Amino acid sequence: MMKFLVPVMVIIMGTTLYSFLSSPIVIESAESRTVDGKPVFNEIQWKMSGGKEIWTMRQSHAGKTLPKKNWDSLSIVMEDKAKFLQFDPATGKRMEYKVSCFMCHSNGPRAIRPAEGSIGVLDQVKVSLLNLRIKLYGRVKAEILPQIGETPFRHEGKISNAPLELPRCTKCHNETSFFARGTLTRQNSLTINFMVNKEHMPPLGSLSFRERQYLENFMNGF
Ligand code: HEC
Ligand code: HEC
Repeated sequence: MMKFLVPVMVIIMGTTLYSFLSSPIVIESAESRTVDGKPVFNEIQWKMSGGKEIWTMRQSHAGKTLPKKNWDSLSIVMEDKAKFLQFDPATGKRMEYKVSCFMCHSNGPRAIRPAEGSIGVLDQVKVSLLNLRIKLYGRVKAEILPQIGETPFRHEGKISNAPLELPRCTKCHNETSFFARGTLTRQNSLTINFMVNKEHMPPLGSLSFRERQYLENFMNGF
């Protein structure tokens, strides 16, 4: 009897965990704001399809009650590299990026950070597990897809691509170390600014006055 029971229980538990993790969550983003400082709502879903992990995000800049068909539609498909896609919410067809994804996504999927109090306890558990998944990817490079329209995935040019060389950051934000998180560049300044100001980075300890000054100069283009 036990011989059958154990694998059956494992399957049931696995399926339950998968359906828990792969059902979408809606958060108010701590990081993203509309141009006039209003909240941005993200519905995020992780799932497996055809042996690939797919992250999708529906995004509203006009409140939670905006009809779903008008929410932006974005995906990151994880293969050897990460494919970034934006879809026309009406037709489901791939369209021009509304903004260069690399500005904020320098290393594939981003850890999810809900605004204080925007989700319940179960969703907090789910966010922690999804964020653990995101950290375990280590270095994620992006596949550059044929460009649609004007907006590139990543800005070209020497100034936009100048690397951040602060040793406190390059310990993890480099190309080769274990769980490396990818070199940061000047075009990532908005995100760097958010992560440092909210004290998410560096993960341990705080920055010295000189390190802070170096970062300010880097973000201002010196
Ligand atoms: C201004 C910064 C910014 C830009 C630009 C941006 N994203 Fe994101 N994105 C985020 C943040 C931050 C999250 C994590 C959710 C949260 O905390 O709001 C995220 C999450 C996602 C997710 C859900 C999976 C994950 O990474 O957590 C997808 C899919 C996604 N973005 C796709 C895209 C695509 C495709 C583009 C380019 C068209 C893009 N994003 C541009 C900031 C950005
Ligand atoms: C101990 C390793 C470590 C150090 C040191 C570190 N980071 Fe990070 N950083 C991470 C990890 C892991 C993530 C992704 C998970 C997260 O967002 O918490 C990340 C995420 C980021 C992101 C968002 C882009 C991304 O990769 O998801 C920025 C920007 C960033 N860090 C900036 C910095 C800056 C600036 C410093 C130096 C002041 C720094 N980090 C130091 C490990 C580190």
